Amino acid sequence: MKNGKIRIGIIGTGNIAQNAHIPSFLKQEDVEIVAVCDANEARVKEVAEKYSIRYYTTKIEDLVSMDEVDAVSICTSNNMHMVAAVAAANAGKHILCEKPMAMNVSQAEAMLKAAKENNIIFMMGFVNRFRADSKVIKAFYDAGRFGEVYYARAVWLRRRGTPLGWFTDSSKSGGGPVIDIGVHIIDLAWYLMGKPKPISVSSVTYSKIGNYKTKGVSRWVAYDTDNIVFDTKDSAAGLIRFENGASISFDVSWAINSKNVGSHVQIFGSKAGARTNPLEIYDEQENYLIDSTPIINDENPFDNEIAHFVECIRENKQPICPAEDGYYIQKILNGIYDSAKLGKEITL
Ligand SMILES: NC(=O)c1ccc[n+]([C@@H]2O[C@H](COP(=O)([O-])OP(=O)(O)OC[C@H]3O[C@@H](n4cnc5c(N)ncnc54)[C@H](O)[C@@H]3O)[C@@H](O)[C@H]2O)c1
Repeated sequence: MKNGKIRIGIIGTGNIAQNAHIPSFLKQEDVEIVAVCDANEARVKEVAEKYSIRYYTTKIEDLVSMDEVDAVSICTSNNMHMVAAVAAANAGKHILCEKPMAMNVSQAEAMLKAAKENNIIFMMGFVNRFRADSKVIKAFYDAGRFGEVYYARAVWLRRRGTPLGWFTDSSKSGGGPVIDIGVHIIDLAWYLMGKPKPISVSSVTYSKIGNYKTKGVSRWVAYDTDNIVFDTKDSAAGLIRFENGASISFDVSWAINSKNVGSHVQIFGSKAGARTNPLEIYDEQENYLIDSTPIINDENPFDNEIAHFVECIRENKQPICPAEDGYYIQKILNGIYDSAKLGKEITL
Protein backbone atom coordinates (compact mmCIF):
# COMPACT_ATOMS: atom_id res chain seq x y z
CA MET A 1 0.00 0.00 0.00
CA LYS A 2 1.18 3.50 -0.76
CA ASN A 3 -0.16 6.57 1.07
CA GLY A 4 -2.76 4.23 2.60
CA LYS A 5 -4.15 3.44 -0.85
CA ILE A 6 -4.77 -0.14 -1.93
CA ARG A 7 -3.56 -0.57 -5.50
CA ILE A 8 -5.51 -2.99 -7.66
CA GLY A 9 -4.66 -4.85 -10.86
CA ILE A 10 -7.50 -6.32 -12.92
CA ILE A 11 -6.70 -9.52 -14.84
CA GLY A 12 -9.18 -10.01 -17.70
CA THR A 13 -11.06 -6.92 -18.86
CA GLY A 14 -14.17 -8.51 -20.40
CA ASN A 15 -17.77 -8.24 -19.29
CA ILE A 16 -17.62 -8.96 -15.57
CA ALA A 17 -14.58 -6.70 -15.15
CA GLN A 18 -16.18 -3.81 -17.02
CA ASN A 19 -19.72 -4.21 -15.70
CA ALA A 20 -19.03 -5.15 -12.09
CA HIS A 21 -15.46 -5.23 -10.72
CA ILE A 22 -14.11 -1.97 -12.15
CA PRO A 23 -17.22 0.12 -11.29
CA SER A 24 -17.32 -1.35 -7.76
CA PHE A 25 -13.59 -0.75 -7.10
CA LEU A 26 -14.01 2.82 -8.34
CA LYS A 27 -16.65 3.43 -5.65
CA GLN A 28 -14.20 2.47 -2.88
CA GLU A 29 -12.35 5.16 -0.97
CA ASP A 30 -8.54 4.99 -0.92
CA VAL A 31 -8.45 2.34 -3.62
CA GLU A 32 -6.87 2.85 -7.00
CA ILE A 33 -6.95 0.60 -10.06
CA VAL A 34 -3.37 0.96 -11.22
CA ALA A 35 -3.09 -1.75 -13.90
CA VAL A 36 -5.18 -3.87 -16.23
CA CYS A 37 -4.29 -6.99 -18.19
CA ASP A 38 -6.06 -8.76 -21.02
CA ALA A 39 -4.85 -11.09 -23.77
CA ASN A 40 -6.71 -8.83 -26.22
CA GLU A 41 -4.50 -5.77 -26.62
CA ALA A 42 -7.10 -3.49 -28.20
CA ARG A 43 -9.56 -4.26 -25.38
CA VAL A 44 -7.11 -3.70 -22.53
CA LYS A 45 -5.86 -0.45 -24.07
CA GLU A 46 -9.39 0.82 -24.48
CA VAL A 47 -10.28 -0.04 -20.87
CA ALA A 48 -7.07 1.62 -19.57
CA GLU A 49 -7.87 4.78 -21.51
CA LYS A 50 -11.55 4.81 -20.55
CA TYR A 51 -10.79 4.65 -16.81
CA SER A 52 -7.45 6.52 -16.88
CA ILE A 53 -5.57 3.45 -15.62
CA ARG A 54 -1.79 3.97 -15.75
CA TYR A 55 -0.51 0.59 -16.90
CA TYR A 56 -1.86 -1.98 -19.28
CA THR A 57 -0.38 -5.25 -20.47
CA THR A 58 -1.34 -8.41 -22.35
CA LYS A 59 0.73 -10.63 -20.03
CA ILE A 60 -0.40 -11.84 -16.62
CA GLU A 61 3.27 -12.23 -15.46
CA ASP A 62 3.86 -8.51 -16.16
CA LEU A 63 0.92 -7.39 -14.08
CA VAL A 64 1.55 -9.64 -11.08
CA SER A 65 5.24 -8.69 -10.93
CA MET A 66 4.50 -4.97 -10.66
CA ASP A 67 5.59 -3.43 -7.33
CA GLU A 68 2.78 -0.91 -7.77
CA VAL A 69 0.11 -3.66 -7.45
CA ASP A 70 -1.06 -4.82 -3.98
CA ALA A 71 -4.00 -7.01 -5.01
CA VAL A 72 -5.60 -8.46 -8.11
CA SER A 73 -9.08 -9.27 -9.30
CA ILE A 74 -9.15 -12.33 -11.55
CA CYS A 75 -11.83 -11.84 -14.20
CA THR A 76 -10.61 -14.06 -17.05
CA SER A 77 -12.42 -17.04 -18.51
CA ASN A 78 -12.24 -19.98 -16.08
CA ASN A 79 -9.30 -21.66 -17.86
CA MET A 80 -6.92 -18.92 -16.70
CA HIS A 81 -8.03 -18.60 -13.04
CA MET A 82 -5.42 -21.08 -11.78
CA VAL A 83 -2.52 -19.66 -13.80
CA ALA A 84 -3.36 -16.10 -12.75
CA ALA A 85 -3.97 -16.99 -9.09
CA VAL A 86 -0.81 -19.04 -8.61
CA ALA A 87 1.31 -16.34 -10.30
CA ALA A 88 -0.31 -13.60 -8.21
CA ALA A 89 0.02 -15.54 -4.94
CA ASN A 90 3.68 -16.33 -5.64
CA ALA A 91 4.24 -12.62 -6.26
CA GLY A 92 2.66 -11.87 -2.85
CA LYS A 93 -0.50 -10.20 -4.19
CA HIS A 94 -3.89 -10.54 -2.51
CA ILE A 95 -6.51 -12.14 -4.74
CA LEU A 96 -10.21 -11.78 -5.49
CA CYS A 97 -11.10 -14.64 -7.85
CA GLU A 98 -14.28 -14.80 -9.92
CA LYS A 99 -16.39 -17.92 -9.66
CA PRO A 100 -15.86 -20.83 -10.21
CA MET A 101 -12.50 -21.12 -8.46
CA ALA A 102 -11.09 -23.26 -11.26
CA MET A 103 -11.82 -25.79 -14.01
CA ASN A 104 -11.27 -28.80 -11.74
CA VAL A 105 -10.24 -29.93 -8.26
CA SER A 106 -6.50 -30.27 -8.92
CA GLN A 107 -6.35 -26.66 -10.13
CA ALA A 108 -8.32 -25.51 -7.08
CA GLU A 109 -5.90 -27.45 -4.85
CA ALA A 110 -2.89 -25.73 -6.46
CA MET A 111 -4.52 -22.32 -5.87
CA LEU A 112 -5.32 -23.11 -2.24
CA LYS A 113 -1.73 -24.28 -1.68
CA ALA A 114 -0.24 -21.15 -3.29
CA ALA A 115 -2.51 -18.87 -1.23
CA LYS A 116 -1.52 -20.62 2.03
CA GLU A 117 2.21 -20.80 1.29
CA ASN A 118 2.38 -17.12 0.44
CA ASN A 119 0.15 -16.05 3.31
CA ILE A 120 -1.97 -13.77 1.14
CA ILE A 121 -5.67 -12.97 1.38
CA PHE A 122 -7.54 -15.09 -1.13
CA MET A 123 -11.22 -14.34 -1.55
CA MET A 124 -13.65 -16.18 -3.81
CA GLY A 125 -16.10 -13.95 -5.68
CA PHE A 126 -19.16 -15.77 -4.36
CA VAL A 127 -21.26 -12.69 -4.98
CA ASN A 128 -24.60 -14.21 -3.93
CA ARG A 129 -23.40 -14.32 -0.33
CA PHE A 130 -23.36 -10.51 -0.53
CA ARG A 131 -27.01 -10.13 -1.55
CA ALA A 132 -29.19 -8.31 0.97
CA ASP A 133 -31.57 -11.30 1.31
CA SER A 134 -28.69 -13.76 1.83
CA LYS A 135 -27.29 -11.54 4.60
CA VAL A 136 -30.62 -11.62 6.47
CA ILE A 137 -30.87 -15.41 6.28
CA LYS A 138 -27.24 -15.76 7.43
CA ALA A 139 -27.96 -13.49 10.41
CA PHE A 140 -31.01 -15.63 11.31
CA TYR A 141 -28.90 -18.79 10.89
CA ASP A 142 -26.12 -17.42 13.12
CA ALA A 143 -28.69 -16.54 15.79
CA GLY A 144 -29.94 -20.16 15.75
CA ARG A 145 -33.41 -19.11 14.58
CA PHE A 146 -33.79 -22.04 12.17
CA GLY A 147 -32.84 -24.76 14.67
CA GLU A 148 -31.03 -27.60 12.92
CA VAL A 149 -30.80 -26.88 9.19
CA TYR A 150 -31.00 -30.32 7.64
CA TYR A 151 -32.02 -29.74 4.04
CA ALA A 152 -31.77 -27.09 1.33
CA ARG A 153 -32.91 -26.66 -2.25
CA ALA A 154 -30.86 -24.75 -4.80
CA VAL A 155 -32.67 -23.89 -8.01
CA TRP A 156 -31.72 -21.96 -11.13
CA LEU A 157 -33.80 -22.82 -14.16
CA ARG A 158 -33.56 -20.67 -17.26
CA ARG A 159 -35.90 -21.40 -20.12
CA ARG A 160 -33.47 -20.17 -22.78
CA GLY A 161 -30.50 -18.49 -21.11
CA THR A 162 -27.38 -20.25 -22.33
CA PRO A 163 -24.50 -17.76 -22.28
CA LEU A 164 -22.81 -16.99 -25.58
CA GLY A 165 -19.06 -17.38 -25.93
CA TRP A 166 -16.44 -19.54 -24.18
CA PHE A 167 -18.93 -20.71 -21.48
CA THR A 168 -20.12 -23.61 -23.70
CA ASP A 169 -16.54 -24.65 -24.56
CA SER A 170 -15.48 -27.08 -21.83
CA SER A 171 -11.77 -26.50 -22.57
CA LYS A 172 -12.26 -22.90 -21.38
CA SER A 173 -15.09 -23.24 -18.87
CA GLY A 174 -14.52 -26.66 -17.29
CA GLY A 175 -18.23 -27.51 -17.62
CA GLY A 176 -21.72 -26.23 -18.40
CA PRO A 177 -24.52 -24.79 -16.24
CA VAL A 178 -23.33 -26.55 -13.07
CA ILE A 179 -19.97 -24.78 -13.10
CA ASP A 180 -21.41 -21.52 -14.47
CA ILE A 181 -24.61 -20.84 -12.50
CA GLY A 182 -24.96 -23.93 -10.29
CA VAL A 183 -21.85 -22.70 -8.46
CA HIS A 184 -23.75 -19.59 -7.29
CA ILE A 185 -26.73 -21.31 -5.73
CA ILE A 186 -25.00 -24.47 -4.49
CA ASP A 187 -22.45 -22.26 -2.73
CA LEU A 188 -25.20 -20.06 -1.30
CA ALA A 189 -27.22 -23.01 0.03
CA TRP A 190 -24.05 -24.53 1.54
CA TYR A 191 -23.08 -21.21 3.16
CA LEU A 192 -26.58 -20.63 4.57
CA MET A 193 -26.61 -24.09 6.18
CA GLY A 194 -23.29 -23.52 7.96
CA LYS A 195 -20.85 -25.06 5.45
CA PRO A 196 -21.11 -28.74 6.47
CA LYS A 197 -18.46 -31.14 5.11
CA PRO A 198 -19.59 -32.69 1.79
CA ILE A 199 -19.27 -36.47 1.63
CA SER A 200 -21.05 -37.63 -1.54
CA VAL A 201 -22.93 -36.54 -4.66
CA SER A 202 -25.48 -38.25 -6.87
CA SER A 203 -26.46 -36.46 -10.04
CA VAL A 204 -27.71 -36.53 -13.61
CA THR A 205 -26.82 -34.16 -16.45
CA TYR A 206 -28.64 -33.66 -19.75
CA SER A 207 -28.01 -32.10 -23.10
CA LYS A 208 -31.40 -31.94 -24.78
CA ILE A 209 -31.80 -28.35 -25.95
CA GLY A 210 -28.23 -27.51 -26.98
CA ASN A 211 -27.66 -24.65 -29.40
CA TYR A 212 -30.91 -22.89 -30.28
CA LYS A 213 -32.14 -20.04 -32.40
CA THR A 214 -34.98 -18.90 -30.11
CA LYS A 215 -35.80 -15.24 -30.63
CA GLY A 216 -36.68 -12.62 -28.04
CA VAL A 217 -34.57 -14.07 -25.20
CA SER A 218 -31.72 -12.41 -23.34
CA ARG A 219 -28.39 -14.12 -22.69
CA TRP A 220 -25.10 -13.30 -20.96
CA VAL A 221 -22.63 -12.61 -23.77
CA ALA A 222 -18.85 -13.03 -23.32
CA TYR A 223 -16.72 -10.43 -25.04
CA ASP A 224 -15.67 -12.77 -27.83
CA THR A 225 -18.37 -14.68 -29.66
CA ASP A 226 -16.60 -15.80 -32.81
CA ASN A 227 -16.00 -19.55 -33.38
CA ILE A 228 -18.27 -20.70 -30.56
CA VAL A 229 -17.75 -24.31 -29.45
CA PHE A 230 -20.72 -26.07 -27.78
CA ASP A 231 -19.68 -29.28 -26.05
CA THR A 232 -21.21 -28.82 -22.59
CA LYS A 233 -24.48 -30.06 -21.08
CA ASP A 234 -27.47 -27.77 -20.55
CA SER A 235 -29.16 -29.16 -17.40
CA ALA A 236 -28.35 -31.01 -14.19
CA ALA A 237 -30.07 -32.22 -11.05
CA GLY A 238 -28.97 -34.13 -8.00
CA LEU A 239 -28.35 -34.51 -4.31
CA ILE A 240 -25.30 -33.56 -2.22
CA ARG A 241 -24.91 -35.28 1.15
CA PHE A 242 -22.99 -33.90 4.12
CA GLU A 243 -21.20 -35.48 7.07
CA ASN A 244 -23.75 -34.11 9.57
CA GLY A 245 -26.66 -35.82 7.75
CA ALA A 246 -27.81 -32.66 5.96
CA SER A 247 -28.32 -32.53 2.19
CA ILE A 248 -28.85 -30.11 -0.70
CA SER A 249 -30.92 -30.97 -3.75
CA PHE A 250 -30.31 -28.89 -6.83
CA ASP A 251 -31.87 -28.20 -10.24
CA VAL A 252 -29.79 -26.17 -12.65
CA SER A 253 -30.38 -25.36 -16.27
CA TRP A 254 -29.31 -22.93 -18.97
CA ALA A 255 -32.17 -24.08 -21.18
CA ILE A 256 -35.18 -26.20 -20.19
CA ASN A 257 -38.84 -26.27 -21.15
CA SER A 258 -40.18 -24.76 -17.95
CA LYS A 259 -41.42 -21.40 -16.85
CA ASN A 260 -38.39 -19.16 -16.25
CA VAL A 261 -38.17 -19.66 -12.48
CA GLY A 262 -34.81 -17.91 -12.11
CA SER A 263 -32.59 -18.57 -9.13
CA HIS A 264 -33.37 -19.09 -5.48
CA VAL A 265 -32.29 -21.06 -2.45
CA GLN A 266 -34.56 -22.54 0.22
CA ILE A 267 -33.29 -23.74 3.55
CA PHE A 268 -35.24 -25.96 5.92
CA GLY A 269 -34.57 -26.07 9.64
CA SER A 270 -36.19 -27.89 12.57
CA LYS A 271 -37.55 -24.58 13.94
CA ALA A 272 -38.00 -22.40 10.84
CA GLY A 273 -37.12 -22.11 7.17
CA ALA A 274 -36.39 -19.41 4.62
CA ARG A 275 -35.97 -18.64 0.95
CA THR A 276 -34.10 -16.04 -1.07
CA ASN A 277 -35.29 -14.09 -4.09
CA PRO A 278 -37.86 -13.15 -2.84
CA LEU A 279 -36.83 -13.22 0.81
CA GLU A 280 -39.30 -14.98 3.12
CA ILE A 281 -39.01 -16.59 6.57
CA TYR A 282 -41.31 -19.49 7.51
CA ASP A 283 -41.85 -19.78 11.23
CA GLU A 284 -44.32 -21.03 13.83
CA GLN A 285 -45.29 -18.89 16.82
CA GLU A 286 -47.90 -19.65 19.52
CA ASN A 287 -48.98 -22.61 17.34
CA TYR A 288 -49.63 -20.39 14.33
CA LEU A 289 -47.73 -20.52 11.08
CA ILE A 290 -46.06 -17.23 10.19
CA ASP A 291 -44.69 -16.14 6.83
CA SER A 292 -42.62 -13.00 7.28
CA THR A 293 -40.74 -10.68 4.99
CA PRO A 294 -37.87 -8.77 6.58
CA ILE A 295 -37.52 -5.31 5.11
CA ILE A 296 -34.29 -4.86 3.19
CA ASN A 297 -32.76 -2.17 1.04
CA ASP A 298 -31.77 -2.62 -2.55
CA GLU A 299 -28.05 -3.37 -2.45
CA ASN A 300 -25.55 -4.02 -5.22
CA PRO A 301 -23.95 -7.35 -4.21
CA PHE A 302 -20.80 -6.62 -6.27
CA ASP A 303 -20.30 -3.36 -4.35
CA ASN A 304 -20.69 -5.32 -1.11
CA GLU A 305 -18.30 -8.07 -2.28
CA ILE A 306 -15.59 -5.65 -3.31
CA ALA A 307 -16.00 -3.53 -0.17
CA HIS A 308 -15.47 -6.73 1.85
CA PHE A 309 -12.31 -7.62 -0.12
CA VAL A 310 -10.88 -4.14 0.47
CA GLU A 311 -11.79 -4.31 4.18
CA CYS A 312 -10.07 -7.71 4.54
CA ILE A 313 -6.86 -6.33 3.01
CA ARG A 314 -6.97 -3.18 5.11
CA GLU A 315 -7.66 -5.05 8.36
CA ASN A 316 -5.63 -8.14 7.45
CA LYS A 317 -8.53 -10.47 8.16
CA GLN A 318 -9.93 -13.58 6.51
CA PRO A 319 -12.78 -13.04 4.04
CA ILE A 320 -16.15 -14.76 4.52
CA CYS A 321 -15.41 -16.72 1.34
CA PRO A 322 -11.80 -17.90 1.62
CA ALA A 323 -9.91 -20.19 -0.78
CA GLU A 324 -10.96 -23.27 1.26
CA ASP A 325 -14.61 -22.58 0.40
CA GLY A 326 -13.75 -22.33 -3.30
CA TYR A 327 -11.98 -25.66 -3.01
CA TYR A 328 -14.90 -27.44 -1.27
CA ILE A 329 -17.36 -26.06 -3.82
CA GLN A 330 -15.06 -27.16 -6.65
CA LYS A 331 -15.07 -30.69 -5.20
CA ILE A 332 -18.87 -30.65 -5.23
CA LEU A 333 -19.10 -29.24 -8.78
CA ASN A 334 -16.69 -31.77 -10.24
CA GLY A 335 -18.30 -34.52 -8.15
CA ILE A 336 -21.59 -33.67 -9.87
CA TYR A 337 -20.02 -34.20 -13.30
CA ASP A 338 -18.25 -37.39 -12.20
CA SER A 339 -21.41 -38.88 -10.68
CA ALA A 340 -23.47 -38.12 -13.79
CA LYS A 341 -20.81 -39.68 -16.01
CA LEU A 342 -20.55 -42.85 -13.92
CA GLY A 343 -24.30 -43.09 -13.35
CA LYS A 344 -23.96 -43.58 -9.59
CA GLU A 345 -23.42 -41.79 -6.29
CA ILE A 346 -19.78 -40.95 -5.70
CA THR A 347 -17.81 -40.24 -2.54
CA LEU A 348 -16.04 -36.91 -2.41
N1 LIG B 1 -20.18 -13.35 -10.51
C1 LIG B 1 -20.98 -13.38 -11.55
O1 LIG B 1 -22.19 -13.22 -11.46
C2 LIG B 1 -20.37 -13.63 -12.91
C3 LIG B 1 -21.09 -13.32 -14.07
C4 LIG B 1 -20.47 -13.55 -15.29
C5 LIG B 1 -19.18 -14.06 -15.36
N2 LIG B 1 -18.52 -14.38 -14.19
C6 LIG B 1 -17.17 -14.95 -14.23
O2 LIG B 1 -16.26 -13.95 -14.62
C7 LIG B 1 -15.23 -14.49 -15.42
C8 LIG B 1 -15.18 -13.75 -16.75
O3 LIG B 1 -16.43 -13.84 -17.43
P1 LIG B 1 -16.85 -12.74 -18.52
O4 LIG B 1 -18.29 -12.93 -18.79
O5 LIG B 1 -16.34 -11.42 -18.11
O6 LIG B 1 -16.02 -13.27 -19.80
P2 LIG B 1 -15.42 -12.39 -20.97
O7 LIG B 1 -15.07 -13.35 -22.04
O8 LIG B 1 -16.33 -11.26 -21.31
O9 LIG B 1 -14.09 -11.76 -20.33
C9 LIG B 1 -12.96 -12.56 -20.05
C10 LIG B 1 -11.73 -11.79 -20.48
O10 LIG B 1 -10.57 -12.57 -20.13
C11 LIG B 1 -9.61 -12.37 -21.14
N3 LIG B 1 -8.60 -13.43 -21.12
C12 LIG B 1 -8.74 -14.72 -21.52
N4 LIG B 1 -7.55 -15.37 -21.42
C13 LIG B 1 -6.65 -14.46 -20.93
C14 LIG B 1 -5.27 -14.52 -20.62
N5 LIG B 1 -4.54 -15.64 -20.80
N6 LIG B 1 -4.66 -13.41 -20.15
C15 LIG B 1 -5.36 -12.25 -19.99
N7 LIG B 1 -6.68 -12.14 -20.29
C16 LIG B 1 -7.32 -13.23 -20.74
C17 LIG B 1 -10.42 -12.34 -22.43
O11 LIG B 1 -9.71 -11.74 -23.49
C18 LIG B 1 -11.65 -11.54 -21.99
O12 LIG B 1 -11.52 -10.17 -22.26
C19 LIG B 1 -15.55 -15.98 -15.54
O13 LIG B 1 -14.81 -16.71 -14.60
C20 LIG B 1 -17.03 -16.07 -15.23
O14 LIG B 1 -17.41 -17.32 -14.69
C21 LIG B 1 -19.08 -14.14 -12.99
